Amino acid sequence: MADATAGTIEALLQEQRRYPPPPEFAANANANDPSIYRRAEEDPEAFWAEQAKNLDWFKPYDRVLEWNPPWAKWFVGGELNACYNCVDRHIKGVRKNKAAIIWEGEPGEERVLTYRDLYREVNRAAAALQRLGVKKGDRVAIYMGMVPELPIAMLACARLGAPHSVVFGGFSPAALRDRINDCEAKVVITCDGGYRRGGIVPLKDNVDTAVAECPSVEKVLVVQRVGPTAKQVTMHEGRDIWWHDALHAEPWREVPCERVDSEHPLYILYTSGTTGKPKGVLHTTAGYLVGTSATHRLIFDLKEDDVYFCTADIGWVTGHSYILYGPLTNGATSLMYEGAPDYPDKDRMWAIVEKYGVTIYYTAPTAIRAHMRWGDEYTRHHDLSSLRLLGTVGEPINPEAWIWYHTNIGKGRCPIVDTWWQTETGMILITPLPGLVTLKPGSATFPFPGVSAAILDEAGNPVPNNTGGNLVITRPWPAMMRTIYGDPERYVQQYWSKYPGMYLTGDGARRDDDGYYWLLGRVDDVVNVAGHRIGTMEVESALVSHPSVAEAAVIGISDELKGQALAAFVTPRSGVKPSDSLIQELRAQVTKEIGPIARPDKIFFTAELPKTRSAKIMRRLLRDVAEGRVLGDTTTLTDPTVLADIKRQYEETET
Ligand code: PRX
Repeated sequence: MADATAGTIEALLQEQRRYPPPPEFAANANANDPSIYRRAEEDPEAFWAEQAKNLDWFKPYDRVLEWNPPWAKWFVGGELNACYNCVDRHIKGVRKNKAAIIWEGEPGEERVLTYRDLYREVNRAAAALQRLGVKKGDRVAIYMGMVPELPIAMLACARLGAPHSVVFGGFSPAALRDRINDCEAKVVITCDGGYRRGGIVPLKDNVDTAVAECPSVEKVLVVQRVGPTAKQVTMHEGRDIWWHDALHAEPWREVPCERVDSEHPLYILYTSGTTGKPKGVLHTTAGYLVGTSATHRLIFDLKEDDVYFCTADIGWVTGHSYILYGPLTNGATSLMYEGAPDYPDKDRMWAIVEKYGVTIYYTAPTAIRAHMRWGDEYTRHHDLSSLRLLGTVGEPINPEAWIWYHTNIGKGRCPIVDTWWQTETGMILITPLPGLVTLKPGSATFPFPGVSAAILDEAGNPVPNNTGGNLVITRPWPAMMRTIYGDPERYVQQYWSKYPGMYLTGDGARRDDDGYYWLLGRVDDVVNVAGHRIGTMEVESALVSHPSVAEAAVIGISDELKGQALAAFVTPRSGVKPSDSLIQELRAQVTKEIGPIARPDKIFFTAELPKTRSAKIMRRLLRDVAEGRVLGDTTTLTDPTVLADIKRQYEETET
């Protein structure tokens, strides 16, 4: 741990700049009383109970928390519905005609759904799903681009109490198939295609390939997004139905919201872990909604007239929690954009900010670094004066990118909330409250009120200030994952075994003398490429599924733009000659098995991989090689010359 992060710690220790909340912002902030931290710390359950008042309950809960580590139940005995909280309750009051979702398509179309429009559409979709046989508890897989029908489909599932499992549209048919099979989805919802950088993503074709090997799938519902001139699709008789036909098959009616228990599953979202098999992270209803809505309101300082734009894809947790569930529970206007940030030109995001008067903008450090590289002129052509708060998520932000964002986008006026969290945590856990906390560029600052964190060494002792260690969360929080779908043992093993009773994040962190947290990246076999989480084992399995590969080891290496990139060390089978065309084939293999996001940037061939006597591949040493560091301890290797050879070869190829 110390090896991998020593350089980062040193660089961050030198960061001396301070940004107190602007006085006017602080005066009007939703969280403007510093005692919120103390009150939440003294009685976390009372704090969360206070937040739970923001929801509408069909039946009040009896107890805030039942905690039998690592099993949590929040708001025990309560009954509610997520769709009701996101949609129905808002149309009863002044928000009826307020924009719930503002959508912009990549080719330039615009669609605004008021809360009432959303209510109409969600009911149509829920009725259609009901007719297709979807009932409470059935799983529905969703594989779509960023179109309004995506949140509509998710809310329709929630209305029926049918957990959805959204699979990011960039995943390959094989990855989609594995996820559908793991959760045994009954219905898949997709689009004929999706627009991306002017091209078409063949979503329906991918579903056809995947579903051919998914015995649980009975029906496929297809949204027509691109139309037959852009993409012809095959509709399978008896299985496939057009969304527009299904939604208009009978007159409009209200589909009653299913009353579900607080702990009823809301969704399953697959994420990468330290094994080859992605984990189905299960989130339930009440705690998740309380956690996401409270964090959204307090961290993003949400006001009634805000136009809130989170640039994530709903296929990732950021989109689930902070495009859909958090914002809509709060009755916000949430903007979603379909396409690439540089299409048709590199000012697209700023054009959107200007056009809709975006006030809160939430994006990833990788995107900020890309904008920096593209140059300031793309920002200068647009009026960004509507912005009042900026946010980042997904990876550590380097102070240079922070300052650029603050200066060029926020014009020195907007606080930046650097929000640390994970698919598993469901909600932001470490973050500034923008009206209260003085910012230090590169630090996610403090745990959210009611959240308790610690940084531990391998033996479980808290590390001294300014020393890296393992970040853990020491107390349950409402939006925490409840289990890994179908694999409770792995849930216990992965997150709660290293330090019993504490949640192991997999991230390294340090705390400075002022108590600020500085995230240092993953300390396990998970890599964060451009804010996308990729398991090195998954990529290794994809590589060894190629007939020319005997063995592979994949590691994350620093990358100026993407934060981290993937490098693969591959041992070919005997008789196979390494070549450029084999490199291309291996890249294609990873794209086929997982998707383009997991394609290694660098592939090196090596006769052998460095292994311990118990045959464990020493990835740590490969990282030292790839990052040009002095090699760490090699005494446990079966044959240290293997590593020396790799280092020599690597250095030769690099120069
Ligand atoms: O390493 C941390 C990094 O992203 C990981 C979680 O990835 P995922 O589950 O895909 O969720 C991403 C969006 C919430 C974490 O383990 N990470 C996320 N936010 C930050 C971060 N690292 C540093 N600073 C952040 N603000």
